[in-house]
Amino acid sequence: PALPAILEPLTINGVEVRNRLILPPMCMYACEARDGVPHGWHFQHLGARAAGGFGIVVAEATAVTPKGRISAWDTGLWNDEQRDAWAPIAAYVAAEGAVPAVQLGHAGAKASTVPMHPGVPAGEPILEGPDAWATLSPSGVPATSMPANVRAMTEQDVAGTVRAFADAARRADEAGFGAVQLHAAHGYLIHQFLSPLTNTRTDGYGGDFEERTRFLRELVAAVREVWPADKILGVRISGSDWVEEGWGIEETVRLARILEEEGVHWMDVSSAGLGDRYHGPKGPGYQVPLARAVKEGTQRMVVSAVGSLTTPQEVEEVLVSGAADAVCVGRAALANPNGPVEAALELGASAEQAPMARQYFRATWGPG
Ligand code: FNR
Repeated sequence: PALPAILEPLTINGVEVRNRLILPPMCMYACEARDGVPHGWHFQHLGARAAGGFGIVVAEATAVTPKGRISAWDTGLWNDEQRDAWAPIAAYVAAEGAVPAVQLGHAGAKASTVPMHPGVPAGEPILEGPDAWATLSPSGVPATSMPANVRAMTEQDVAGTVRAFADAARRADEAGFGAVQLHAAHGYLIHQFLSPLTNTRTDGYGGDFEERTRFLRELVAAVREVWPADKILGVRISGSDWVEEGWGIEETVRLARILEEEGVHWMDVSSAGLGDRYHGPKGPGYQVPLARAVKEGTQRMVVSAVGSLTTPQEVEEVLVSGAADAVCVGRAALANPNGPVEAALELGASAEQAPMARQYFRATWGPG
């Protein structure tokens, strides 16, 4: 049968990706030892979804410094022990045919929070005790109205953080990852620099578009010095703050044009993350128009869409309509690691065409 669009291979910077389905980064809050070292949980989580057929498997927001963790339970890449623990995970994901990727992040003012666990209010800061620390942000402006123990970054902090991103990218390469994604979305540090809601600096890192985007542009330049030219470099962006005086889609498209010139191959377009109350649209594919704007506004950028895309038909339609080159499926993939195989079969692909692990060839999907 004809291949559904979700199964068409995709080439990013010369790297062949087997299909258009991406597992987006999702924090597991599973490092109980608070050492940022991934372990069996991370292996099975990412490994199962590689075997389940995703083209790119992106490991969760992984901190470039201890202070950059969203919570004390996050993974890191600020030391070699963490790198060495990631290596077998990346190797296994690659062995299953997916591109192993890692999202590098710094939470800024949204660090030192409670992990997203059942019955716990998401994103609530921890202000005291062993799992709390003072956080950093561009201007000491909290990212939400919850109490925060945050101070403005000095120029030395900024330079040190740029180095930390580059060091983490070097370790990601050494660990065998084929792609890194810089986390510039969801109200975390890079987004805090981009948005006028949280960036009131006057030292060249804040002010107009050029100045607010400088931190990210410096990160890209620093990462490119250590990240191999034949691997994939990506950025995840919040395409809009959904706030009148905040960061918006016009600035996102303008930035994407600059980043494609500066060596970024892939932009994953999400939204929001600053402020408390969500004012944006909702519903299936509500962020797809942001991805489409970046796709239409750039020349070579590989663009992925994300957000409440759950059925095979919805995902297929994003691709067929040309809104994006690839689609991330997050929460649905927590429920079902084999989503790509099932979606392929549902869209009419044969079992041979579906990205099925050969060990599971006797599996039955649906009434067997
Ligand atoms: C997330 N999301 C997320 N995003 C990100 O950029 N880095 C991260 O580490 C995380 N962590 C995370 C944890 C959990 C448990 C969830 C549910 C979500 C957001 C995620 O990547 C995705 O953008 C959203 O879930 C929307 O896509 P879906 O779930 O509607 O397909």
